[in-house]
Amino acid sequence: MLSADIQHAVEILRSGGLVAFPTETVYGLGADASNPAAIRRIFLAKGRPQNHPVIVHLPSASHLFHWARNVPESAHRLAQEYWPGPLTLVLPRAPGVSDLITGGQDTVGLRVPNHPVALELLRAFGSGIAAPSANRFGRLSPTTAGHVRDELGDSVDLIVDGGTCEVGIESTIVDLSRDAPALLRPGEISRRDIEWTLMQSLTTQSSTRAPGSLPAHYAPRTPVRVVSFEEIADAIANQTNVAVLSMRAAASQRSIQAAEDARTYARDLYANLRALDQMGCEIILVENIPEGEEWAAIRDRLTRAAASSWHS
Ligand code: TXA
Ligand code: MG
Repeated sequence: MLSADIQHAVEILRSGGLVAFPTETVYGLGADASNPAAIRRIFLAKGRPQNHPVIVHLPSASHLFHWARNVPESAHRLAQEYWPGPLTLVLPRAPGVSDLITGGQDTVGLRVPNHPVALELLRAFGSGIAAPSANRFGRLSPTTAGHVRDELGDSVDLIVDGGTCEVGIESTIVDLSRDAPALLRPGEISRRDIEWTLMQSLTTQSSTRAPGSLPAHYAPRTPVRVVSFEEIADAIANQTNVAVLSMRAAASQRSIQAAEDARTYARDLYANLRALDQMGCEIILVENIPEGEEWAAIRDRLTRAAASSWHS
């Protein structure tokens, strides 16, 4: 028996509408991946340029063949190990996959998300759901249904509320469509995890077609700087109008104390930045995070948030 919400969501998708739904990483803005008119609505709702490709979410790995061709052995190995989970595979696209999905490229990004609501929706729908993160273009990804409502409001037909996303940052993206496998976006599943599974090292490629890989992305409206705790303490002592995200307690009411472990830090990161963005400060100061592989994806998102401050 399907819940009424899922039933309703499937009807909306079948009639070409937009459904925001939770995944373990962030909320997605979903449309029927085989309906170009529906996919066009995603771009309108996000305010996103049309040459940006969109990930297709699948109910299971057995659907790979409808969307990709010449699927290499490495894709099977990664899918077996990490799906359902926060990993997107970029593969040569199957004939018939819309240019709107691929951004006009020969490849398609695919993932099976690990969230009970997402999986229930995908299984009930029975086919691919195209879904970028459910935020306005260039803004922070939403990790609660409330964030989606704030970002997209009435431009989405239904928001399925599945609580707070556990991972909190977007999926790891691995490109298997070229000669050597490449890491396009770091995520909770680390470079080392992938290399271990493939028994091969990954090259780093930043595709200019991946908006997540443009420097000015994942940004709050308030400028962000990543600094030492001493600089934060100085700014507070000088009564500068700053909002603070630090692992140590800062002597300011406009501060949030972040978790010291990478998983919790990542889970809360976007909600924390959203809250700090709303404090009406001149700048958000983020304390430097530790070195090390488990912080790589967080470092990537913070660097982008800070980089985009230079453009705003
Ligand atoms: O965790 C996630 O991946 C979330 C949830 C909703 O699944 N989705 C997400 O989608 O972050 P989006 O569109 O905000 O970011 C997807 C990234 C973009 O940078 C896009 O350019 C890249 O994936 N991408 C998708 N298809 C691609 C392709 N064929 N080649 C290269 N990059 C691709
Ligand atoms: Mg996004």
